[in-house]
Amino acid sequence: MLICIEGIDGSGKSTLAQRLAQLLQKSGKTVLLTKEPGGSALGKQLRTILQTQPMPINPVSEFLLFAADRAQHVQEVIKPALAQGTIVITDRMGDSSLVYQGYGRGIDKQMIKQVNAWALQGITPDLTLYVKIDGTTAAQRVQNRGALSAFEKEQKEFVDRLITGFNELYQDRTDVITLDGTQTPDNVILTAGKALSQWMNQHRP
Ligand code: TYD
Repeated sequence: MLICIEGIDGSGKSTLAQRLAQLLQKSGKTVLLTKEPGGSALGKQLRTILQTQPMPINPVSEFLLFAADRAQHVQEVIKPALAQGTIVITDRMGDSSLVYQGYGRGIDKQMIKQVNAWALQGITPDLTLYVKIDGTTAAQRVQNRGALSAFEKEQKEFVDRLITGFNELYQDRTDVITLDGTQTPDNVILTAGKALSQWMNQHRP
């Protein structure tokens, strides 16, 4: 089973990913927690370039670097783990590109979908947990964390486009659970845990 966690920066998705992995491990499951960008050795180097952007990177190049991270991640990390029956939780995947590079930067969404599918070898998440939050609350959290990445330095309009993107992408989807990111971490994990076990019971083979 592949679970993906998505949301804007400051939504609390990384905290949720960690706590969800712990929760499933405690219940006896074998879990791998990973992320994009940076889930592979190549990805770690790409992540540094993408987060710090020490030279100009145009939006298409930016997307292709995320796609390279993704291709390596799926081949080296995700596929082998799934083959062993491990539950894989990934902090972001292809939808982040659709939202950040498509809605955020304005590049062709169809191309992103095609390249994503190619990079991911057709693998898609069984379930996506979308941590939904307003831009103001998320921005406050991001500011309190210290050094900002290239994406966290973007203006409010960019973040508004991301929120629109995630909301559009995830409306009316049976494979997406939307969580209220303004809640405390304890409440978010509680709701996520309940929703996930319900989902697992319904989708048991
Ligand atoms: P993230 O790991 O969530 O940041 P952090 O661990 O520092 O909180 O993601 C890194 C940044 O990369 C984030 O701002 C979103 C961005 N991103 C994209 O723009 N496109 C993508 O395809 C992915 C995976 C991430």
